[in-house]
Amino acid sequence: MTTPRIVVAHSAEDAGEQVADIVEAALETARHGRRDPVLGLATGSTPLAAYRALALRRLDLSRAWAFALDEYVGLEAHHPESYGEVLRREAVEPLALDPARVSVPGGSSNLSASCDDVALDAACAAFETALEAVGGVDVQLLGIGSNGHIAFNEPGSSFDSLTRVTQLTEQTRLDNSRFFGSLDEVPTHAVTQGLGTVFRARRIVLMAFGEHKARAVAAALGGAPTQDVPASVVQLHPDTVVLLDEAAASLLPSRSLSPSEAWA
Ligand code: GLP
Repeated sequence: MTTPRIVVAHSAEDAGEQVADIVEAALETARHGRRDPVLGLATGSTPLAAYRALALRRLDLSRAWAFALDEYVGLEAHHPESYGEVLRREAVEPLALDPARVSVPGGSSNLSASCDDVALDAACAAFETALEAVGGVDVQLLGIGSNGHIAFNEPGSSFDSLTRVTQLTEQTRLDNSRFFGSLDEVPTHAVTQGLGTVFRARRIVLMAFGEHKARAVAAALGGAPTQDVPASVVQLHPDTVVLLDEAAASLLPSRSLSPSEAWA
């Protein structure tokens, strides 16, 4: 088993700079390989510092492909909290990504309530095919939910799972209700990349900041990998970097942090 490299950064901003370094390195590798880079984008508050750091570097991402992790099912078209819209505001426009090269699971526009199961399943399969067609993700950015979910893979998700429709737990809906007017407005279902899909990325960067993430981080990294804690799948990945702040790392057993890497 490969232990992920765990780095405790001074702050989310500091970690954001480190993510930007990792993305720049991936762009360089793709350039040497004469292929277009492929980025895996995450939604939520966690990756915002990384997107800000990347935007300030004014990298040429015009040839980059970008794939989102997940999307709610049932929001009206262009709902401001749909992940397609959030990514457009927070990443696609600030980083000058080509919108034609950005894919969101289930389709580039929102998955409306009228979308039937057959259409959703077809959209999930098409997303997997599109990901394969560009050669897979070079760097996948990830946050972590308070119950240890990554993307919208809730506890119990198979480590082999692919892009699919998933039901959100009440905890996740409650956590995400801060983005909506009320809990009732939070969708009950989403389309998400599977854990198996995420795992195929060549490099994974898992980020977590703040005391409210400490338990999930400890559960994901402090014990053996288990499907009860979806984020623990990263322990099995050959190239994962975990970027934390001190508060998010506070419940990790100290043996998880190697002395040379504990402090960036
Ligand atoms: C959502 C997303 C996840 C994200 C998580 C944590 O549920 N589907 O991809 O990691 O929230 O969000 P935040 O970064 O805002 O804490």
